[in-house]
Amino acid sequence: MNNKKTALVLGASGLIGSELITTLIQRDHYEKIHLIVRKPIENHYSSVCEQHVVDFDMLKAYPELFQVTDVFCCLGTTIKKAKTKEAFRKVDYEYPVEAAKLASQGGAEKFLIVSAMGADSNSRFFYNQVKGDVEETLKTLNLSSLNIFRPSLLLGERKEFRLGEKMAAKASGFLNTIMVGPLRPYRAIHAKKVALAMAIEAESDKKGVNIYPSLEIEQMVSQK
Ligand SMILES: NC(=O)c1ccc[n+]([C@@H]2O[C@H](COP(=O)([O-])OP(=O)(O)OC[C@H]3O[C@@H](n4cnc5c(N)ncnc54)[C@H](OP(=O)(O)O)[C@@H]3O)[C@@H](O)[C@H]2O)c1
Repeated sequence: MNNKKTALVLGASGLIGSELITTLIQRDHYEKIHLIVRKPIENHYSSVCEQHVVDFDMLKAYPELFQVTDVFCCLGTTIKKAKTKEAFRKVDYEYPVEAAKLASQGGAEKFLIVSAMGADSNSRFFYNQVKGDVEETLKTLNLSSLNIFRPSLLLGERKEFRLGEKMAAKASGFLNTIMVGPLRPYRAIHAKKVALAMAIEAESDKKGVNIYPSLEIEQMVSQK
């Protein structure tokens, strides 16, 4: 390690979040990686990581955790898990926006967030609408470097069973081979690649708002 950077990861127990932690440790870019979680996760990570169990409704009560170089947000839920639109919006909109505000107040250099392909405030689909809304609000916060990752369907080993995603992931092996030309941007993408792209971006000195569609994420990591 050649610098003294620190990171904070929200959503570390999830599919992308857990890949991200592994990637950040391997790349040895941070002297400390703080994880904020709602319930303790098995800490099989290196001593570089420190986990903090917090009440996400009270993120404001932990401003010191946001005094880091880079903040990564991999939070998300599904309507099925959240049960109501309000509960979904809390995880996919309110928590990330609060985290970004705290990151900005804490002097973070970069805020990196996983959104989704199709994010659009004007979408008639609730999921895409919330993703669009969170992106739009984050853009108003004047973060010195806001980095939005918009993957398509995620591939990877999930702890929980999601039938729809499982079936789509099975089909994607074949589909990805025939999704060429204008269909290429819609190919499913492995969570490891999204995590790697986030780590690569965090190591760059790019400022401003940067949006990474799924195909660009693929290209970023294939060059490495
Ligand atoms: N699935 C896809 O195909 C897909 C495609 C494109 C974009 N995305 C987006 O990519 C992002 C990451 O997806 P993923 O599949 O890696 O997510 P995931 O595996 O479902 O993980 C979500 C993370 O958010 C945390 N979380 C959920 N509800 C919470 C709550 N109420 N309070 C605090 N933490 C909470 C989870 O913590 P716990 O472990 O404590 O639940 C977990 O760490 C999401 O924003 C998702 O919408 C997903």
